[in-house]
Amino acid sequence: MLKDAQGLEVTTDSPEAIAAINRFIDQILSMGNNPEVIFKAVEADTTSVIANAYAATLHMLAETADGPTQAAPYLKRAYEYCDSANEREQLYLHSINAWVKGDIDQAIAYQEEIANKYPPDLLNVQLGQKHYLDLGNKQGLLQIVEKVLPANRDNHYIYGMLAFGLEENQRYQEAEAAGRKANEMNRCHPWAHHAIAHVLYSQGRLDEGIAWTESVCDVWENSSFYTHNWWHTALYYVDKEDFIKVLELYDTRIWGTTANKKTALDLINAISLLIQLEMAGVDVSYFHEDSDAADAPGKSIASRWEEVANSVTGHIHEHILGLYDLHYIYALARVGRDEWVEQMLKSLQSYAQTAKPCVQKAWSEVILPAAQGMVAYAKGEWATAAAFFKLALPRLHAVGGSDAQRDLFEQIYLDCLIRTKENEQARQLLEKRAAVRDHVPSIQRELARISSH
Ligand SMILES: [Fe+2]
Repeated sequence: MLKDAQGLEVTTDSPEAIAAINRFIDQILSMGNNPEVIFKAVEADTTSVIANAYAATLHMLAETADGPTQAAPYLKRAYEYCDSANEREQLYLHSINAWVKGDIDQAIAYQEEIANKYPPDLLNVQLGQKHYLDLGNKQGLLQIVEKVLPANRDNHYIYGMLAFGLEENQRYQEAEAAGRKANEMNRCHPWAHHAIAHVLYSQGRLDEGIAWTESVCDVWENSSFYTHNWWHTALYYVDKEDFIKVLELYDTRIWGTTANKKTALDLINAISLLIQLEMAGVDVSYFHEDSDAADAPGKSIASRWEEVANSVTGHIHEHILGLYDLHYIYALARVGRDEWVEQMLKSLQSYAQTAKPCVQKAWSEVILPAAQGMVAYAKGEWATAAAFFKLALPRLHAVGGSDAQRDLFEQIYLDCLIRTKENEQARQLLEKRAAVRDHVPSIQRELARISSH
């Protein structure tokens, strides 16, 4: 019996497997871009239950439709050796098995049990946070971290997790302190950088946000959070209405290069930004690099929207997360792919009826009407879109994602109110936004616009 770097017992006699497991855990906690190292652990000891369960985890974290299929052989092998594993390994295996089946509440129950019995297991806590985030449960997102904090006060990763949990609970001062503490303990911490970026955005501290992200962005080069942290950086510039900078970041950091087009998160970062740019009246039609392509025979001009829509078509039946689907369906509707939109709406309706009980209401009562709202918004049917969002917004946390990601939908609702001249409702919403995020130019400009009508 050996121990991993967290000091937790692992049922294996292979030092090579332990080394790969340690590297994997560090890659996940640090948002690294080489978590595939876990397959070396499986090669070193095919009987290791936790190595196989971690390999299954990695396939699920990819958030693709074939994740459960890819995870299945590793789970099968893990269960073959389950009786020889220790309690923590067995609980962890059961949690991943529940996730593969879509029983997120069951997965969380196992994660909480592991957190209670084995608090140094921070990979487990990170997965618990992910599930709580996906369910829109901000209390759980924080509480699972607070539960294990006393056992991990010397570990910088816990403060990044704590910072994000606090931020999503609007405890911004404490969140910033925790995030900065994590960064002081170890600067190679994109998740802590991200939590602070959230705080600065939520408080409307735009210049500080830009200075902060620029001071740490070198660390993101080898991070799976590269595009998302740059998306956060771009949001400051959206609010400052520096749209040339936003487009530059879009084309170089967020979506424009091949390296940035990998995950669902990469894709929704891009879609969200295009929506916000167009909402501000920016023409997002063409890549800068292709600006002279119109005169080049045989060379087509790629529309930014066409490009993201092309990447969406493979995802329309996945239904991994409501937040993703709301972005996907807008991109399809925005470029007029009505048949795809209809297919996706039908697929959403069908999924909403058959989803697991823990998410069924979210899909049928929130995500589906919000998706219809996104389609209406893309088609310029402002009143219809506003009606759908008025229905969905009070429970929008159920689509998953963070406050900053879901703020897009409130912005859309606001845009619909302004376009349909519902000025009093729009003014109330803008004043609420301005109270939280003082001196944000984009909000102030909209307030002035409403007042002048
Ligand atoms: Fe974020």
